[in-house]
Amino acid sequence: MIIAVDGPTASGKGTIAKALAAHFGLPHLDTGLLYRAVGWQTKLNGGDPDNAEDALAACGFHDSLLANTELRSEAVGGLASKVSVHPQVREALFERQRAFATQAGGAVLDGRDIGTVIAPEAEVKLYVTASTAARAERRFREMRDLGREVPLRDLVDQLEARDERDKGRKDAPLAIAKDAFVLDTTELGKDDAIAQAIAVVVQVT
Ligand code: C5P
Repeated sequence: MIIAVDGPTASGKGTIAKALAAHFGLPHLDTGLLYRAVGWQTKLNGGDPDNAEDALAACGFHDSLLANTELRSEAVGGLASKVSVHPQVREALFERQRAFATQAGGAVLDGRDIGTVIAPEAEVKLYVTASTAARAERRFREMRDLGREVPLRDLVDQLEARDERDKGRKDAPLAIAKDAFVLDTTELGKDDAIAQAIAVVVQVT
């Protein structure tokens, strides 16, 4: 069974994907982390994330980079959304994601194009979303818990810029797969969102 979880940044898709993987005993891949590693490696190389050649050269990043907590920062999220625009980068990361999705026994993957490009045959497709205000608010609390006070207005601007880039790109834009179940988490707490996602999987399979 392949479970595809797509959606915009801070929608709760990562939390939901992790919980589904634990509940159904499936391996989980956070595909955003791969794009984040490419973005970060581009910077380490002294390259420009808007330049396709520089970004492609960074696709050979060492796997140890994936454990770097710096990858989780919003700054690296911005770099990731820049390098992810280049078709060459998406192609370079395709096989790894595809192999993970099609491994025997199934898998849960979360990202932007899992249900549309990486695993269009997925048995379960969830599109997790929430209002911009709710997503900015969650990011704000996350950052505050890390001891970093970022003005809410700045977070809204960053989220909107990233959404626009992810939805507007030509290659594999963030889009709702036509057979996806849309889960809006704006009014849902974490536990309710997870319970609803589990119910969708149970119902579909
Ligand atoms: O999900 P996360 O915020 O970690 O993703 C970082 C960036 O990587 C996204 O803004 C998006 O541009 C890119 N991405 C993508 N395709 C995916 C996962 C992430 O283009 N499957």
